Amino acid sequence: LISMSKPTQNDGCRTLPLSMHVGFDSLPDQLLKKSIKQGFCFNILCIGETGIGKSALMSSLFNTNFEDSPSTHFLPSVRLRAQSYEIQESNVLLKLTFVKTVGFGDQVNKADSYLPIVDYIDAQFEAYLEEELKVMRSLFSYHDTRIHVCLYFISPTGRSLKNIDLLTMRSLDSKVNIIPVIGKADSISKTELQEFKKKIMTELVTNGIQIYQFPTDDETVSEMNTITNGHLPFAVVGSMEKVKIGNKMVRARQYPWGIVKVENESHCDTVKLRRMLCTNMEDLREKTCAYYELYRRCRLEKLGCKDVGPENEPVSLQEVFEAKRLEFFLEMERKEEEIKQRFVQRVNEKAAMLEEAEQQASMPVYLEFDSNGLNRKQFTQQTREYVL
Ligand code: GTP
Repeated sequence: LISMSKPTQNDGCRTLPLSMHVGFDSLPDQLLKKSIKQGFCFNILCIGETGIGKSALMSSLFNTNFEDSPSTHFLPSVRLRAQSYEIQESNVLLKLTFVKTVGFGDQVNKADSYLPIVDYIDAQFEAYLEEELKVMRSLFSYHDTRIHVCLYFISPTGRSLKNIDLLTMRSLDSKVNIIPVIGKADSISKTELQEFKKKIMTELVTNGIQIYQFPTDDETVSEMNTITNGHLPFAVVGSMEKVKIGNKMVRARQYPWGIVKVENESHCDTVKLRRMLCTNMEDLREKTCAYYELYRRCRLEKLGCKDVGPENEPVSLQEVFEAKRLEFFLEMERKEEEIKQRFVQRVNEKAAMLEEAEQQASMPVYLEFDSNGLNRKQFTQQTREYVL
């Protein structure tokens, strides 16, 4: 639409009316084309005990088979395994990276199980920061590996969260969007499941753990997201297999007493989780950028970078660089002076010792060096007995 309003003043910037169509209203379309051409990337981290159903859920969510060999229960520490895939829907290309924990919860001492996960998330932030700070950077084609969402698998015990769950979620909630899910939810009854969900949410609140909340500020999704926030944690069921029901093949788990359909919303929340992940992908990516900003700020502050000086005056990059250089030279000078002082002190100590030895023997003291001129030996001519 061509704005025909009168010129107005806005933050020192005048708003002018257009008398005819110029054409810059095609900018959003240009952006859309560019994004589609470039593709999108989305990185999911699955944390959960060995065999809790991480791969089966990912395959069920994306309706494909992410084949993966079963992990062993005998690893001395937790590791992370990342696999990247390209999947396409209509003309949209998604570069999906699926990272999962290996050996989580298998060690006798689980106190440090969360550390390799924290390190992994930080390493992805660090790699992005390094790319950003390069002189010749190529962020456009850079494969961003920062984690956009963490699906935290809770075992379907029906009791409460374990210490390892609380410890891990607490150490990650300021770094990544956490969505808690109850894994293998077909192994718990419907009434027990509702009680278990409530208990988990209470425990998360009591322990001050922040989980991802689907945004409710956009009115197009606010109603759906408010309802979904009430379904957390999602009770998920996954399967690698398809079962013939009628004349259709559906992803399901078959038991002697019946069939659990992964896609059936009255059987489990897997479809809800898929819908929510897809409709909120951009929000998850934006929130990840906010977590990255936090990481970046701390890292740059540690490196001595700042935007304002002690009196809130703006500081340029050149000034920061000069200050750092001066600091470095002063430190070098201080170290050099320290080494000089130590050398003089040692020479004086040696001289004093020689003098003392000379006095004790009341005869001349001779020095003998080895072939390298090192390992000086000191002896008297008469006794050839080592004094030192
Ligand atoms: P690791 O990589 O070895 O830790 O395994 P994982 O967590 O990726 O689990 P995976 O998806 O490989 O599933 C492990 C076993 O659990 C397989 O036998 C699956 O068939 C089964 N399984 C997966 N999801 C479910 C589920 O929702 N319910 C039930 N009952 N079994 C499941």
